[in-house]
Amino acid sequence: MTQTPKKLWGGRFAEATDGLVELFNASVGFDQRLFEQDIRGSLAHAAMLGKTGILQPLEVKQIQDGLNAILEDIRAGNFEWKLSLEDVHMNIESALRDRIGPVAGKLHTARSRNDQVAVDFRLFVKDAALELASLCRGLRAVMVSEAEKYLGGGQGAGVETTLELRVDAEAVPPAPLILPGYTHLQVAQPILLSHWFLAYAEMLERDESRFLDAAKRMDESPLGSSALAGTPWPIDRDMTARELGFARPTRNSLDGVGSRDFALEFLAACSINMAHLSRLSEEMVLYSSFEFGFVTLPDSHTTGSSIMPQKKNPDVSELARGKAGRVFGDLMALLTVVKGTPLAYNKDLQEDKEPVFDAFDTVSIVLRLYAEMLPKAVWHAETCEKAAARGFSTATDLADHLALGGLPFREAHEVVGKLVGYCVQYGKQLWELSSEELKAAHPSLNSSVAEKLSVQNSVRSRMSFGGTAPERVREALGAAKSRL
Ligand code: ARG
Repeated sequence: MTQTPKKLWGGRFAEATDGLVELFNASVGFDQRLFEQDIRGSLAHAAMLGKTGILQPLEVKQIQDGLNAILEDIRAGNFEWKLSLEDVHMNIESALRDRIGPVAGKLHTARSRNDQVAVDFRLFVKDAALELASLCRGLRAVMVSEAEKYLGGGQGAGVETTLELRVDAEAVPPAPLILPGYTHLQVAQPILLSHWFLAYAEMLERDESRFLDAAKRMDESPLGSSALAGTPWPIDRDMTARELGFARPTRNSLDGVGSRDFALEFLAACSINMAHLSRLSEEMVLYSSFEFGFVTLPDSHTTGSSIMPQKKNPDVSELARGKAGRVFGDLMALLTVVKGTPLAYNKDLQEDKEPVFDAFDTVSIVLRLYAEMLPKAVWHAETCEKAAARGFSTATDLADHLALGGLPFREAHEVVGKLVGYCVQYGKQLWELSSEELKAAHPSLNSSVAEKLSVQNSVRSRMSFGGTAPERVREALGAAKSRL
């Protein structure tokens, strides 16, 4: 980028802009990313100026041809962005003047850079929200197909899975794969891996709807708000809104140029989505560790160490977890930019773009990576199930058994708590206790309860709506598939 003289707003200025000010003020380094939106906005504005008789048809044609030629140049990489021209808008307008002469100056009739940037940015953010919604949907579909894959019993028949990627036969059990469920990261109760996948599918479904919702709310064109107060020119805002694919024009000119809550909402949706992906990442890091050994990540999505030859690191998950922080930062940055600005436009608002670009790029790559990586990850049924049986994970089942016999649940809890303490002391599992030991804890107990204490029985019994029983999970899976 080079420096050139002559500002488009230079009329009242006698002295040249200070070099450092120029550098500080310029946004073209990042807002050139909006060139497609800027030219679309200008084309629609020019068409409207023609339709309303503000410009002559020939003038409109010259402007539109010029803009289209510039669009081709930029796409082809034949465009020189100039720092001294500050931003994407003035770079393009100045190139238009170079190309078609003074008639280029008529394009800015009834328009300000304030509504120009507002419309460009809305076009970008709306598309970005729709794109992330569809990537959430894609990852949702992966969660659902993984849930089906690990539900066992041939239940996977008829779904698209990546069978050829199953390196490990043990990974696809005939029965549903059972995983320890945790609270406080302490073994709590056994769950189905499919249930776990469907939990993330639920989160992603809400994330998707948050993006769609935000896109719908921001579906209004600020073009024609002009600098802040509207314009005396007989413009047609419905026409430009329509041409640009917006549902309608914004209703208030101050709000149109001065509000950025559409970008905040987008960043909030990105942040919540990244919070979910970060939780998933944390679980993937833990479960792929040697100590857990629940899942093997694909070589294609892990990395090695430059010194320790044995290492296979879950970098994708770690980075995704780390990048959540950066996306939250993007939201925080823009909230802080907006909070102190009086109506309507302030230059502070130029700081709205980088956080949005950054969040969009970050969230889209993370969503894509997980959609690629999860189908190639292999879960180990035997290890998971063994882990699910550890830590007295079926103690609640024993308490429920006692309570079913009429003992108040609180008392049953106490009885089983004592038995667990006994097992810890003597290094036993609950199902290894003899009838005598059980009877000593409570007269209604005997060794026949052992079968109730298996992880299979535990998950089978959790039949409540939304629970982890295979039957319920199968229903939930069917519902999740039909919602896709
Ligand atoms: N580059 C500016 C931005 O991104 C465009 C609007 C400038 N408006 C103005 N009145 N200086 O916000």
